[in-house]
Amino acid sequence: MTEKLLGKVAVVTGASKGIGAAIAKAMALEGAKVVINYASSLKDAQRVVGEIKNAGGEAVAIQADLSQPEAIEPFFDSALAAFQRIDILVNNAGIYLAAPLGQITPEHFHSQFNLNVLGLILATQAAVKRMPAEGGVIVNTSSVVSTLSPPGTSVYNATKSAVDNLTRTFAKELAVKKIRINSVNPGLISTEGTNAIGFVQQGVDVPEHMGPIGLPTHIAPGVVFLACDDSIWMTGQTLYLTGTAG
Ligand SMILES: NC(=O)c1ccc[n+]([C@@H]2O[C@H](COP(=O)([O-])OP(=O)(O)OC[C@H]3O[C@@H](n4cnc5c(N)ncnc54)[C@H](OP(=O)(O)O)[C@@H]3O)[C@@H](O)[C@H]2O)c1
Repeated sequence: MTEKLLGKVAVVTGASKGIGAAIAKAMALEGAKVVINYASSLKDAQRVVGEIKNAGGEAVAIQADLSQPEAIEPFFDSALAAFQRIDILVNNAGIYLAAPLGQITPEHFHSQFNLNVLGLILATQAAVKRMPAEGGVIVNTSSVVSTLSPPGTSVYNATKSAVDNLTRTFAKELAVKKIRINSVNPGLISTEGTNAIGFVQQGVDVPEHMGPIGLPTHIAPGVVFLACDDSIWMTGQTLYLTGTAG
């Protein structure tokens, strides 16, 4: 352990599973105290907290459905109360749904935009208000799909293109507050979420244009890099971690 995040408090949204869980564990290993946000999977969130504590770290699980605007301020009040400060926000919670053009409905659109885009904006707003005067760091989990644009997931792809643009714009707005914001753009990663929709085994059922499937532990070190001072001269950028995809 190099303790690159010692003394910092990180809030990781959607950290009960998948990429978020790996990010939370990697940040705790670097010395951060971590708030594990989840929507419905209390047991999974508690398992992540337990793994962090067993490794000598500090973490707490806090429930909030971040697609609901009214849940966001109370969530950040609880997160701040947990460890008395918020230095790092990882906007990782996100959902992905498939539908070709002819099957897109308002519900399909809103369920993804409400969490992946509006939830991210409101969480960023709430975290920024609570960050200390010396500044902070935000990392957004975007995706290779923001530019790869695979067929069949246009609305999801559009949410991640929006995340990339928000990352660039907020970087300019937040520089004055000494807050850096970057995004990590993973390729296809084996998680509870992608396994549930059929991307089960390495190389099996994976569309060719998405490249070989990676692991959450391939992404977490990149997020630690974006959260710590190793990336001090970097803001408004997109870090692609995609293997050979994209
Ligand atoms: N897996 C990939 O191939 C891949 C590639 C590129 C980018 N990404 C992005 O990476 C992020 C995580 O993906 P993943 O595959 O790790 O997902 P996952 O395995 O489905 O896990 C999703 C996480 O988000 C939480 N979540 C879902 N809806 C939420 C809500 N309304 N409010 C708060 N938390 C919520 C879940 O909590 P509960 O368990 O409590 O529901 C869970 O912790 C997403 O932003 C996704 O778009 C994924």
